[in-house]
Amino acid sequence: MKATVIAKDQTFTGRDFLTLLDYTPAEITKLLESALEIKKNKSAYADTLKGQSLGMIFENASTRTRVSFEVGMTQLGGHALFLSPRDMQIGRGEPVIDTANVLSRYVDAIMIRTNSHELVEELAEYASVPVINALTDNYHPCQAMADLLTIVEHKGALKGLKLAYIGDGNNVAHSLLAAGAKVGMDVSIATPAGYEVNESIFDKAQKAAEETGATLIQTTDPIEAVKDADIIYTDVWASMGYEQEQEERLKQFSQFQVNEELVKSAKSDFIFLHCLPAHRGEEVTAEVIDGHHSAVYDQAENRLHAQKAILLALLSK
Ligand code: CP
Ligand code: NVA
Repeated sequence: MKATVIAKDQTFTGRDFLTLLDYTPAEITKLLESALEIKKNKSAYADTLKGQSLGMIFENASTRTRVSFEVGMTQLGGHALFLSPRDMQIGRGEPVIDTANVLSRYVDAIMIRTNSHELVEELAEYASVPVINALTDNYHPCQAMADLLTIVEHKGALKGLKLAYIGDGNNVAHSLLAAGAKVGMDVSIATPAGYEVNESIFDKAQKAAEETGATLIQTTDPIEAVKDADIIYTDVWASMGYEQEQEERLKQFSQFQVNEELVKSAKSDFIFLHCLPAHRGEEVTAEVIDGHHSAVYDQAENRLHAQKAILLALLSK
């Protein structure tokens, strides 16, 4: 696919990117193809977003998301602005409606990381430019796109594979359910009782899975989830905003560590993924995350390529 072809595809133009559940399987496939193409032919896309600006609101910490979005905009010929609510009027109570309307007069898209998914939906409702979800309590869709890209590169396909997610039923787990459902990849989630995924999000993903044939399973048994898996995925036990539960969670999640023993139940050529940041010795052992099945740095790199494809799609005129 050439830059001109992607730029002329206006089915994405002006849309928000809040959850993969809003996109069809064909659209997700198209974005992945575009990401692979952009990754391969970086220089062909150097001026595609010339003169365009992305406002990036970060209420929470970030390494990968911040750097990959900023570098991505630069590589596409555009510009990104880091906006901290600590320094913005929204942090002092300026209404979302005014923030959304005013930013829409300056920038071509808004990226936001905040806990409340409802706030992001409100921002998207009032903004006249695309709003990109860079992580809320509910979803992390940009991460899921990079995850799919990494799986395609390592496994050559998505449909029919089995991904096992072990740990907290959090934003990353929700986006993996949505991603699997949309591309026909089975997803088995093992969490401790009381830390399951959100029921309504599971139901929405389940509905999408009916179209693609993906099987989505929830269990409290990590071995059952990992059995014959092609991909093993985990994330921190205490997400941003839940740090005060860290001590309690260390106890509750102790049987949910991805370690050498657990991975024996997966296929022998499984890959290990983690959105990072990781806590070695907690949700994953150093042997696994630093071992030869791990693809976590490819996965982190793919944030850049996946997001460039998303930016190009939403911002193409
Ligand atoms: N995976 C991820 O979103 O990383 P950051 O929190 O560093 O952005
Ligand atoms: N679930 C984690 C992901 C960090 C990228 C969190 O929300 O903190």
